[in-house]
Amino acid sequence: MSKDEVVCVTGGSGYIGSWLVRLLLDRGYTVHATVKDLNDEKETKHLLALEGADSCLRLFQIDLLDYGSIVAAVTGTVGVFHLASPCTVDEVNDPEELLEPAVRGTQHVLTAAKELGVRRVVVTSSISAITPSPNWPADVVKREDCWTDVEYCKQVKLWYPLSKTLAEKAAWNLAKEKGLDVVVVNPGTVLGPILPPTINASMAVLLRLLQGCTEEYPDFYMGPVHVKDVALAHIMVYENKSATGRHLCVESISHFGDFAAKVAEMYPSYNVPRMPKDTQPGLLRAKNGSQKLMDLGLQFIPVEQIIKDAVESLRGKGYVM
Ligand SMILES: NC(=O)c1ccc[n+]([C@@H]2O[C@H](COP(=O)([O-])OP(=O)(O)OC[C@H]3O[C@@H](n4cnc5c(N)ncnc54)[C@H](OP(=O)(O)O)[C@@H]3O)[C@@H](O)[C@H]2O)c1
Repeated sequence: MSKDEVVCVTGGSGYIGSWLVRLLLDRGYTVHATVKDLNDEKETKHLLALEGADSCLRLFQIDLLDYGSIVAAVTGTVGVFHLASPCTVDEVNDPEELLEPAVRGTQHVLTAAKELGVRRVVVTSSISAITPSPNWPADVVKREDCWTDVEYCKQVKLWYPLSKTLAEKAAWNLAKEKGLDVVVVNPGTVLGPILPPTINASMAVLLRLLQGCTEEYPDFYMGPVHVKDVALAHIMVYENKSATGRHLCVESISHFGDFAAKVAEMYPSYNVPRMPKDTQPGLLRAKNGSQKLMDLGLQFIPVEQIIKDAVESLRGKGYVM
């Protein structure tokens, strides 16, 4: 199936971005993928090695704070996938390091898209714009109309969830103000085969777990999802004109303790810690939390396969024995 369209993927060099570029090339799209440094082989080599890259992939260097660099990457495209954003679950010294590129970057990308006549923008938000939401009713499963509590994030210094929440809100505000067609994907903890030579924040969570780390991520976890499904979800909401609003993208809504127990069961030779049953206070479990994407035809890869693909990739790259 040849799509014969030119689209832009910001953050194309990243963990999810690389998979998205790969699936788009496979479908016949021509892709403008953005990287932070065109001279850094760690960002470019794995993309240039993708099938179809020689004829259908162009790389652009952008800085999310530099509007002109984004205009160059978006020019000539009819669709934009905005993934680029600083991504970490570790402590940060200066919150602005996360907040500024996340929020201003989103504003720059959407403004450029509108100015250049782009038809649809897919914004990669996160479950971090859905949870932590301590005031959500305890007997209702969290879903797309649930938003992260901004004041709670500021109080307990949760800068990554704050950055994703403010960035997504900025996207919806701009979409309304400028009449731009925006649709959002909110992935959970993304795991699976790694294409870039470096490891991203979510795969580092699994790596640390295999190494015995006891962190339970009470405010950062809502369920796992395979990286291929996340890339596919982006394409589905882009291509399917009936897709609107936010799309929670998890294999299931579950606790980090459930995930750790499954990893321990499948890989008993690693030093995976035992955790309490409920690691995410107040989070109701649900198998079909991502019903909107399922209704669009997405069949989520089961958690066992997510873990297998992720661990095998970490092993293959030498992160664990
Ligand atoms: N991984 C997850 O579990 C998860 C879950 C939900 C949502 N998300 C969201 O998915 C998106 C991609 O995440 P990922 O896991 O693929 O992380 P990643 O591998 O760290 O990718 C992030 C990408 O953004 C680029 N970027 C960051 N700051 C930039 C800046 N100032 N200017 C230009 N480019 C910049 C990075 O470029 P460099 O490679 O050069 O740094 C990289 O290509 C992010 O928006 C993230 O918040 C991720």
